[in-house]
Parts: sequence; structure tokens; C-alpha cells
Amino acid sequence: MTPNLEMLEDTVRLAIDAGEVLLHHFRQPLLKQNSKSDVVDIVTEADRASESLIVDRLSALYPNTHIVGEEGGGVGTDPETAEAFWYVDPLDGTVNFANGIPHFCVSLGLTDRDGNPLLGVIFNPNTGEQFTAIKGQGAFLNHRPVSVGNKTTLVESILASGFAYDRRTNPDNNLPQWSAFMPQVRGLRRFGSAALDLAYVACGRFDGYWERGLKPWDAMAGVLLVREAGGIVTDYHGNETLSFVPEGRLVVSNPVLHGVMLNVVRETYES
Ligand code: IPD
Ligand code: CA
Ligand code: CA
Repeated sequence: MTPNLEMLEDTVRLAIDAGEVLLHHFRQPLLKQNSKSDVVDIVTEADRASESLIVDRLSALYPNTHIVGEEGGGVGTDPETAEAFWYVDPLDGTVNFANGIPHFCVSLGLTDRDGNPLLGVIFNPNTGEQFTAIKGQGAFLNHRPVSVGNKTTLVESILASGFAYDRRTNPDNNLPQWSAFMPQVRGLRRFGSAALDLAYVACGRFDGYWERGLKPWDAMAGVLLVREAGGIVTDYHGNETLSFVPEGRLVVSNPVLHGVMLNVVRETYES
């Protein structure tokens, strides 16, 4: 499957429609929510409504694809025969959403059968910002080309990260990495949406980002955006071929700062 502009436009329209569903539920006093893997890991009726709209529309538009949605598992064509795979985060930043914090998005990423990202759309309904990329065609914010920043030292950089929901029980909880970066950088941010963190690196608002415990729906669209914006995305060992199994570990930045970040991560991470 080779994505084209028409496919990108359809995907953006879908992300905008899903964003409207989210805004409809946002700050509603009776919003229903349940815990998932841990008490800190929640799903709301908005996550489900957004995902159901996205999955229905993607299945109709692209019947030969397999769709992996965060809340619903896999649907569509059998993965054995599917032409391509969609990774759908219907609401990235659920904890922000459930607390009335206007920093969340819809993230839609398409990959080939080998997991290489082909198309990515991240839409923030609070700001109307749409981050888009097709492989080989650059990265865009509201139709304008964007590129990663050009900082080369940590001391002039703002980095972002996040903490996976297993942090209460898993000793590998990202605190060693956070502590190692903290004294070396201009600023660290934990904004609560991995997809927007990646999109912000793609447009130079953040100079770098790292996180562990990511799932393909959190990251697939953002990985393509950063790469198309001239950035480097690897795992904690520096490999550009990403595997989200057993878990997603990403280091993301411009080509120079990426090496500096990788050294810090490597010093704090073994295995
Ligand atoms: C979470 C957010 C958060 C990141 C977590 C993700 P969700 O996704 O992206 O920033 O730190 O690892 O699971 O639950 O809001 O879709
Ligand atoms: Ca997510
Ligand atoms: Ca989500």
C-alpha cells in the first residue's frame, strides 16, 4: 500500500471527527471511566466512542488493512493477509482528558507489513493543530513543513518524557533516566501525551524525548513525523528498527543531540 495525499486527507478528516467526539465528552461532569491495567490506568467513554468511530471508518475506507486500536484489539483483515496495519490511539493523554486538562490528541499511524511507518496523523482538537506525514514527503503542521530543532547540547535543550502505567510495580520505572537528565538540561517536561511529545519534537518545540513502555498506537504516527522532520528515532541501544515487543523504548531527537541523549540513557540502562 502506497499512501497518497488523498489518503492523508481522509485520515486527517477522520482524526478531526474523532477529535470532535472527544471535545463533546470533555469536562462533562458525569464522564464514565474505568481502570484498566492499574488504578492509575483509565479508559473513559470518550476513548471508546472515538475508537469506534475511527475503526468503523477505517474498515470502510481501507478494507484490506488490519486495524489495531488501543481499546479494542485487532479488527479488519486478518493480519496474515492484510496489506498494511493501522495503529489507532483514539485518545492519547487520557489522564489529562479525565482531569479537564486540554492536552490530548488522536493519533493514527499506518505501517507496512514489516512495521515500517508509512503515514501518520496526530490531531490536537484543543488547538486545532494537525501534524501529518507521508513517508518520503516531509512532516507538516497545519500544511506547513516542519523540522526538528538544532540544539546540540543538553544544557540548552528541553526534553520530554513520560511514565508508563506499570510504574507503581515495575522497578524499571524511568526514574533513573529522569534523574540523570534533570541536572543536565534547560528543562524537562512530562505533558502526558506521548504522541504530542513526538509531534513537538518533530516541529522543534521539544529538543528530544525518551520513554519506555510505549505501545505502537502511542508512537507509530509520531515516529514517522520525527523521521520526516529530519530527526532520529531509535531504541535504547541505538537501533532504528523498532520493536514494541516486549516493550517500546524510544530515544528521539535531532541527529546530533540524539547521540548525546543515547549516552545518558545507556549509562542508566542495562540489558
Ligand atoms: C499514555 C500517554 C502518556 C505516556 C503513557 C501512555 P494514554 O497514553 O501517552 O504520555 O506516558 O505511557 O500510555 O493512556 O493517554 O493513551
Ligand atoms: Ca496512548
Ligand atoms: Ca489512549
